[in-house]
Amino acid sequence: MCGIVGYIGHREAYPIIINGLKRLEYRGYDSAGIALYDGSKIQLAKTKGKVVDLEAEVAKGITTKGSLGIGHTRWATHGVPNDVNSHPHYSNSGDLVIIHNGIIENYSSIKKELIKRGYVFHSDTDTEVLVNLIEEIKKKEGVKLGKAVQIALNQVVGAYAIAVFDQKKPNEIVVAKLGSPLAIGVGEDEFFIASDASPFIEFTNNAIYLEDEQMAVIRLGREIRIRKIKSDKRIKPFVQELKLNIEQIEKGGYDHFMLKEIYEQPAVIKDTFRGRLLADQGIIKLGGLEEFIPKFVNADRIIIVACGTSWHAGLVAEYTFEDWARIPVEVEYASEFRYRNPVITEKDVVIAISQSGETADTLAAIKLAKEKGAFVYGICNVVGSTISRETHSGTYTHAGPEIGVASTKAFTTQITVLTMIALKLAHVKGTISRSDYMMHLRELDTIPTHVAKALESNDEIKEIAKVFKDSPNFLYLGRGYNFPVALEGALKLKEISYIHAEGYPAAEMKHGPIALIDEQMPVVVVAINSNHYGKVVSNIEEIKARKGKIIAVVTQGDTAVRELADYVMEVPKTPETLTPLVTTIPLQLLSYHIAVMLNRNVDQPRNLAKSVTVE
Ligand code: G6P
Repeated sequence: MCGIVGYIGHREAYPIIINGLKRLEYRGYDSAGIALYDGSKIQLAKTKGKVVDLEAEVAKGITTKGSLGIGHTRWATHGVPNDVNSHPHYSNSGDLVIIHNGIIENYSSIKKELIKRGYVFHSDTDTEVLVNLIEEIKKKEGVKLGKAVQIALNQVVGAYAIAVFDQKKPNEIVVAKLGSPLAIGVGEDEFFIASDASPFIEFTNNAIYLEDEQMAVIRLGREIRIRKIKSDKRIKPFVQELKLNIEQIEKGGYDHFMLKEIYEQPAVIKDTFRGRLLADQGIIKLGGLEEFIPKFVNADRIIIVACGTSWHAGLVAEYTFEDWARIPVEVEYASEFRYRNPVITEKDVVIAISQSGETADTLAAIKLAKEKGAFVYGICNVVGSTISRETHSGTYTHAGPEIGVASTKAFTTQITVLTMIALKLAHVKGTISRSDYMMHLRELDTIPTHVAKALESNDEIKEIAKVFKDSPNFLYLGRGYNFPVALEGALKLKEISYIHAEGYPAAEMKHGPIALIDEQMPVVVVAINSNHYGKVVSNIEEIKARKGKIIAVVTQGDTAVRELADYVMEVPKTPETLTPLVTTIPLQLLSYHIAVMLNRNVDQPRNLAKSVTVE
């Protein structure tokens, strides 16, 4: 998981690459590097740390002239994050230079062979092996760079998005893709290369997304040549027009992307509805779903596969699908599902949920489900992402780019889509009454207003954050629809504040976590007005009896929990089935403020990455 950027054209490459890398830091940020062709030779700088550290490194020594270059921001797989392991990597002659996002699994056997042939390695990376393999083939076979890359890639096992150039032929960049994303921005006599379109969006709206097992030779003054890596078949470039704009990927006055994205939720949930939810007319219409409704309603069961926050959205859907549509649901971690020989039949429908649409484990789970004959439906945010292309059909969440590594608006929009699907299926199956269906449609339609209202508690939540910011542990409890919300609340806190937090179903507390409770322990309880209200109140009493500190998420106007709790965070009243969409909001804000007060890097927490393209 790394970010790659490249440029070839008539502009100065350096600022384009540096700004592009900053936009891609969500993909990894433990080291960064750049290689530019200055008109006579390669200028290379790289360092452990972030792109700002790279800028300082560049300022110390290299010239930033030139209109050809490549850059990289890294999330380490092979080799610890340090200066030497950072990309780009040179070949032994110093002529070739490469950047790589992915893993070469058989690098060690190739490395041994190359060492026998006299190659010397300076880093522990698989990438340095690949660039030297390309060099060896180029020399031995006497072929051009593009051909050498192709032959080399046919010898490697693994995943990659690479860009490589030769200082002896500085009018072309060769790129290739398998398993990691690679977009080519097409301008007038200039080309941009990047892991996603964000680095070049202010320069061009035209992009080509390479497919797996494709490579391209990008040469100035010539049409891009794309071919299949295995069969050599030429592919006609398909240039797409992008809808993304620059405002969508900037902070817009907020201190952090995460806060901006939390506040975007009322608007993006509306975007998720747009043209799909016509509450007054009693219509839910999801383009990708219509034709496949029989698959869903006749399915033996629905299996949801996902990772991280997306998995939590899947857990919420388990409640709605079973409750309304009466279809059995299993929610699986994609990473477990793919390796445990699961029972899947042609009568199963698999729903894959992924913000990025690139998560390696989710992708592998999809491939497995397809092999077993299941119908696979995708719920992705990133348009054109690998998962959205690998699934039989699907629905986009339309949350817009999510840059903060901790997922917020992606989660609520995923739940929104899943809720619409569940309601639609229940309506078609007749497992929900007309009045209940209409009521839920209208309530769903008002969710953006309720989310906006929940955001108004921000200042009070900030005060609560002040009180608890130094607590070493947190417990999060919820029941029913709000059990997944408790898990998500705990995950958010862990991810960005590095405070240990556990999410638990409230009733399970008695089977273990209750032993942790003492006067030091903050317990965040989702205690909204619901079927479980009385039971949750009892759970709160049990915590109070052991002197735990209660921070409760309550329904506006609540009195009973307010009396018991040390602090409350209010959310507007909604039907229980829709509560996760509002109860999540205060938990996002609480973790955000705690992380800010602890001086954490909110948008780029340590060791994490937004898009996990390795297993
Ligand atoms: C990473 C991210 C999480 C995300 C998970 C799944 O761990 O940091 O925020 O929930 O991957 O990602 P996906 O893109 O598949 O939803």
